[in-house]
Amino acid sequence: MSLLREPDLGTPRVPGGPVLGEPTVAVVIDGARVAVPAGTSVMRAAALAGVDVPKLCATDRLDAFGSCRLCVVQIDGRNGTPASCTTPVVDGMVVHTQTERLAKLRRGVMELYISDHPLDCLTCAANGDCELQDMAGAVGLRDVRYGFDGANHLNAPVDASNPYFNFDPSKCIVCSRCVRACEEVQGTFALTILGRGFQSKVGPGIGEFLGSECVSCGACVQVCPTATLTEHTVVELGQPRRTVLTTCAYCGVGCSFRAEMQGETVVRMVPAKNGGANEGHSCVKGRFAWGYATHADRVVNPMVRDRITDPWREVPWPEAIEFAATRLLDIQQRHGVGAIGGITSSRCTNEEVFVVQKMVRAAFGNNNVDTCARVCHSPTGFGLKATFGTSAGTQDFRSVDQADVILLVGANPTDAHPVFASRMKRRLRAGARLIVVDPRRIDMVRTPHVQAAHHLALQPGTNVAVVNALAHVVVTEGLLDAAFVEQRCSPTEFAAWREFISRPENSPEATEVHSGVPAAELRAAARLFAAAPNGAIYYGLGVTEHSQGSTMVMGLANLAMVTGNIGREGVGVNPLRGQNNVQGSCDMGSFPHELSGYRHVSDDATRETFEAMWGATVSPAPGLRIPNMFDAAIGGRFKGLFVQGEDIAQSDPNIAHVAAALRSMELVIVQDLFLNETAAFAHVFLPGTSFLEKDGTFTNAERRINRVRPAMPSQTGKQEWEVACELATALGYPMSYESGAEIMDEIAALTPTFAGVSFDLLDQLGSVQWPCNDANPTGTPVMHIDTFVRGRGRFVETPFVATDERASRRFPLLLTTGRILSQYNVGAQTRRTDNVVWHETDVLEIHPFDAAERGIDDGAAVALCSRVGETTLPAHITTRVPQGVVYTTFHHPETGANVVTTEFSDWATNCPEYKVTAVQVRPAGATESHNELAVSHGESGVDSLVRMANQIAGQFAHLPDDLAVNSVAEHLRSFWERRMIDDVAAAPADRLSPTAAAAVAQCCV
Ligand code: SF4
Ligand code: SF4
Ligand code: SF4
Ligand code: FES
Repeated sequence: MSLLREPDLGTPRVPGGPVLGEPTVAVVIDGARVAVPAGTSVMRAAALAGVDVPKLCATDRLDAFGSCRLCVVQIDGRNGTPASCTTPVVDGMVVHTQTERLAKLRRGVMELYISDHPLDCLTCAANGDCELQDMAGAVGLRDVRYGFDGANHLNAPVDASNPYFNFDPSKCIVCSRCVRACEEVQGTFALTILGRGFQSKVGPGIGEFLGSECVSCGACVQVCPTATLTEHTVVELGQPRRTVLTTCAYCGVGCSFRAEMQGETVVRMVPAKNGGANEGHSCVKGRFAWGYATHADRVVNPMVRDRITDPWREVPWPEAIEFAATRLLDIQQRHGVGAIGGITSSRCTNEEVFVVQKMVRAAFGNNNVDTCARVCHSPTGFGLKATFGTSAGTQDFRSVDQADVILLVGANPTDAHPVFASRMKRRLRAGARLIVVDPRRIDMVRTPHVQAAHHLALQPGTNVAVVNALAHVVVTEGLLDAAFVEQRCSPTEFAAWREFISRPENSPEATEVHSGVPAAELRAAARLFAAAPNGAIYYGLGVTEHSQGSTMVMGLANLAMVTGNIGREGVGVNPLRGQNNVQGSCDMGSFPHELSGYRHVSDDATRETFEAMWGATVSPAPGLRIPNMFDAAIGGRFKGLFVQGEDIAQSDPNIAHVAAALRSMELVIVQDLFLNETAAFAHVFLPGTSFLEKDGTFTNAERRINRVRPAMPSQTGKQEWEVACELATALGYPMSYESGAEIMDEIAALTPTFAGVSFDLLDQLGSVQWPCNDANPTGTPVMHIDTFVRGRGRFVETPFVATDERASRRFPLLLTTGRILSQYNVGAQTRRTDNVVWHETDVLEIHPFDAAERGIDDGAAVALCSRVGETTLPAHITTRVPQGVVYTTFHHPETGANVVTTEFSDWATNCPEYKVTAVQVRPAGATESHNELAVSHGESGVDSLVRMANQIAGQFAHLPDDLAVNSVAEHLRSFWERRMIDDVAAAPADRLSPTAAAAVAQCCV
């Protein structure tokens, strides 16, 4: 057995197990006495007693299934040989797991498996990590009486279509673990067992893995007990030899992984079962898309140049540091101390971020430091601090298991926070209800065995109107939790808010006009949420990236307070943070007005503690935010910028404006893995380290601080924080640390919410959620339990103000943007992995009517224009977006979706309004107005729909006729509105292909 494999107790822990002090029952297994919670399986009890029962279909990640019959046991006083995985313990039970009778039965089972299994153990990729091999040894199998010549599956072809794992059915024992993992853990239901008896076989439907519903989360690969599902890297490199526990560097879920290594080479990343955020699950990015760390595009040596038109010149580290420091000092001498600044990165560790903001405050001598959270979750910090007193979400992820109604606003977790989405889907399959607030029909609206109770498909830019309408119903219909409000919230502000929210302008009927959401639907959703014993709110960038982002966060906080949904498990207001360390980069004092722990720079007492420890003066004046830096640069007052791990020339809005700002500067220093878009404007390039080289911590969306441990040496020869220390020192402020642990000690000494955090504690506990201090030595999973951090919860009036970015005759559509599962932000990492097979380019989702009106075909190149810019990308015609709304992602620099987004931003924090841009779309190359286009194309809307129906039928032409018709009909039912199908049905039948006509007819029955 592989020494790296995590222990497997065979069946899951009984819900609410021993930690809650459940009654236990005592049993004796092979003479060993053990007490376990009632309901525990005999198999798990045996494992806890140190007795390993042979098993194949069981694993503690999945509910017991009882199909392989290898785990049979004998129980005193009972007939037969029950399966230990499906038999619960009973008090006083005496169990025998090793008898002659059992041994014979098990050998018989193994004989059958092995008689239909390739005998290539020595050359098999799973050799040494195969449970079938282990079990053959465990049961003492020496011979197969049936021989190997009978009917078998040994010639079944390998499916290597997935870029990351093989499916070799010749090795499959049809234990169904993969099917159950896909259902129970991932919630995708992509796999199925086709056929019966000997004909049974597992597969992703009728085709190959690639092209199936599979989202490549890897859960099936992880549970497969044989080499049937095996990572390509294991096939290529062999079995790993050592493991390093670390944290994924992609999204804000912050999954824990075991980096399984051969020397300095990663063989595979396996999600850790005891990871606080992911509990053994993963998504395609963390599990498979780590190859960018050693991609040939990595720059590992520092480079400098005098002008951005010059070629880069590789130089040794000291020369690069000297080059940067001399020029920074020169700028300050000529233009003043405030003419330079820095941007920290939410992709870097807490320690790296802390050191950069310290460099800016102590060595640059100003507070011109900001972070990429400015462009994503800064309104979360503002809104939750104003209402609750803390700039962070209120719950741990586990809390969702107790939610009865989930309000999901402006978030698309199946794409952006996949592991949490799986957990949420599990809760929904168990009966919780879901309200989705999103212009787009995201997957959560309807996914296998999950159907949202309400989808409030609002117009982009009307979030605040909708949340006000929900609260209006709660208050005016008397559905509020008066006791909670009275005991926990400030009465003066509540009285004012109650008067405000009860006004007719906040009623569903009044807001229907702005939002487009029917008043009856709003009322029904509000009643459902208010009536829930536990109502939980989860939200994403669809809330924050608006001109009223901060207002909306406060609106959600108001709704949670008025319904009493704060301060216990199953409730709360939970921002789903975008990047891995957005929470941490904000916590570490990256904002120009706040020191670590969200304390204002103007507070003398706070500043003094920093000044005493740092031996430097900290300015009491807030510095420049990122947009202010750009404006000041264009105005000639800001001349030098240090950019840590952020591609502002691709990720920030109105790229032309960003480029102009960068061009105006005398010195741009970029610290990154790759020569990104921003590096085109840089004079110094300081190579950064990947997460596999870092030694530090990330803080995820649940305030969980996780260790990031180096699995391989730094490819640049330095940790990133060492580079900032050397630059600060060259600027005249000596700064140095021995290790990441020492930096964390300084963070803890200066930040009350981190006071108890240290690397030692993290090694001991695995992870910890801040606040972690004397009052909460092991952290705080749920906040605001008895009282809000600010004392009494504060209701804030949230009047709806329509954004200035409105659709017009020239720009009649509203563009909103988001992410796709396989790609990550600007794609710098994921585009350098095989994830590109799922998303080679950004596409523009457009409703069929909007497409038909403009003569746009599915897949055709279209021009997307706003008042600030224009770009070209392929169209994807879909009813996922409503009429009048278009949607795209921003993962590819060639598309540069942010060329068109405007500089409108949140009134409180300047977070850009990425989610609302008025645009026009036309076929690429066309210049006519859309009316003229429709005429010149010579097609009516119905013509266009007929053409699309024929195109769809063409896509299924490879299938047998009846299957093709069913597939086309299913596609039309899923993606077309009924009126579209009716329009096509009314068209002359001879204009439709036979398959399309039959499918349309089937839909109309
Ligand atoms: S592919 Fe693996 S997990 Fe799935 S049924 Fe076959 S052996 Fe079991
Ligand atoms: S990789 Fe994930 S989604 Fe794909 S089949 Fe396996 S469990 Fe299902
Ligand atoms: S859910 Fe997020 S943190 Fe987890 S593996 Fe995927 S990208 Fe990484
Ligand atoms: S492990 Fe119990 S029946 Fe398979």
